[in-house]
Amino acid sequence: MASLSNSFSSLPSLLLIRCLASSALPNTGMKADVSISKTSHVYGTVSRRELCYDNVKVSGNAWDTNLIKVNPKFFSLNWNSSGGGAFAVIPLSMTGKIPDALPLYRGHSAAVLDTDFSPFNDNLIASGAEDSKVFIYTIPDELGEVDIDPIVRLSSHGRKVGQVLFNPVAENVLLSASADLTMKLWDVEKGVEKQEITGHLEIIQSVAWNYNGTLVATTCRDKKLRVFDVRSNKIVQQADSHQGVKGSRVVWLGTGDRLATTGFSKMSDRQVNIWDSSNLEKPLKSTNLDTSSGVIMPFFDNDSNMLYLAGKGDGNIRYYEYENDEMFTLSEFGSNTPQRGLAFMPKRALNVNDCEIARAYKVSNGMVEPISFTVPRKSDSFQADLFPDCIGDEASLTADAWFGGETASPKLISLEKGYTASAKKEFVASVAAQAAEDIVTVPKSDKDYQEAYHKLRQENEDLKNQIAQKDVKIRLLEVQLEQLTPA
Ligand SMILES: *[C@@H]1O[C@H](CO)[C@@H](O)[C@H](O)[C@H]1NC(C)=O
Ligand SMILES: *[C@@H]1O[C@H](CO)[C@@H](O)[C@H](O)[C@H]1NC(C)=O
Ligand SMILES: *[C@@H]1O[C@H](CO)[C@@H](O)[C@H](O)[C@H]1NC(C)=O
Repeated sequence: MASLSNSFSSLPSLLLIRCLASSALPNTGMKADVSISKTSHVYGTVSRRELCYDNVKVSGNAWDTNLIKVNPKFFSLNWNSSGGGAFAVIPLSMTGKIPDALPLYRGHSAAVLDTDFSPFNDNLIASGAEDSKVFIYTIPDELGEVDIDPIVRLSSHGRKVGQVLFNPVAENVLLSASADLTMKLWDVEKGVEKQEITGHLEIIQSVAWNYNGTLVATTCRDKKLRVFDVRSNKIVQQADSHQGVKGSRVVWLGTGDRLATTGFSKMSDRQVNIWDSSNLEKPLKSTNLDTSSGVIMPFFDNDSNMLYLAGKGDGNIRYYEYENDEMFTLSEFGSNTPQRGLAFMPKRALNVNDCEIARAYKVSNGMVEPISFTVPRKSDSFQADLFPDCIGDEASLTADAWFGGETASPKLISLEKGYTASAKKEFVASVAAQAAEDIVTVPKSDKDYQEAYHKLRQENEDLKNQIAQKDVKIRLLEVQLEQLTPA
């Protein structure tokens, strides 16, 4: 039986699950006599070779993110490129061998570490990089021949930017997390920093928005789990989390206030914990999984209540059903090819007719493989129990309303009639936000001189701010050091 030891499986006997994973895997099916739910039979199937993406050049950077993001039209991938950092955005229709001469998303002067698509505009993407910059790009529907430059450049972080993540309800609101130990909130349309968030004492390892985009949970190299009210720069909860030094990740468990974290114990066991975000004193559940060494990437699907755990360097993706703070092992998708990164398709673009309840995009060396998770059903009619209303592609709030303190839930859509993207207006950055050319042009007129002067003044202000932040950080570290020094 696919089993997760101790506290996860308190049901008497578990489910029938067969995993029809990749053909390389023997059928590890097990039968049992109870079935707890609609998702107790979920099969993972990897796409046929010709429907995969071959010849992708995956970045070799050691920074721990998922490398890939996906939306209904494209996937983005941190690319192994010469000359600074770059990522690729590849139309999903471009299956088979990716051409060597692929136009790349450029502009960063060092490795790209993370990307994120806007949830409300499939043709808008953000990137964060080792050069401490956050860039915004629009994505042409047709793959052209020339590289693509950012249209907005956000540059007030002092060190590398390891994560970028759009807010799930407000349009054009982006969160970035940096090795300068701050997070920042941006209005990317106006190109302005709206809020700096402090409180981390070491490198931020993962960030996650809650369902309605009011709170952000983070894991950090200082081994603490934190929940921030980001708009007011307040830590609402903070606690000791996994005690191992290696990477820890966090996800919200759907619409409620529960969190799951993955990480390592002191003895380097891989662990998964369940938490109540309003009281982090101790985890509600803590389970040791195994002793493998890869960071576990967690993904949660609210609509089926399933948690997917994919270890870096593992071939398998385990999945569980979550209910009332218990985790029940469902099964495991198995493969001989180790994954380097993984992303899940937004629910709205799944194949409802095939009862596809999730689709993962797995990055291995040189390949991206779609993996469909389906529930076999005989009927051709719409399976309402598998597909409750899901998150759509329309924002609930403008950036101004959200920064002004309004809160709303995401707008839901029904998949019964299939999904069509809502009409989009083109993303136009306000004039001030438009990417200033990095090239220094020699001023020609008085007006040019004035502009150059204002630009330099602004840069000077930014640098002063950065120095001030550094001072704060140094003071923080001094205090910590004092506490550590034996009297
Ligand atoms: C990146 O590309 C260079 C040059 O083609 C190659 O030598 C290197 O092995 C690649 N790195 C990875 C991680 O694929
Ligand atoms: C936002 O979501 C949190 C749970 O993550 C919940 O406690 C809160 O009530 C929600 N706020 C609104 C206005 O729906
Ligand atoms: C979350 O799941 C519940 C129960 O399956 C469902 O009623 C609700 O519509 C889902 N919400 C979203 C945002 O998908």
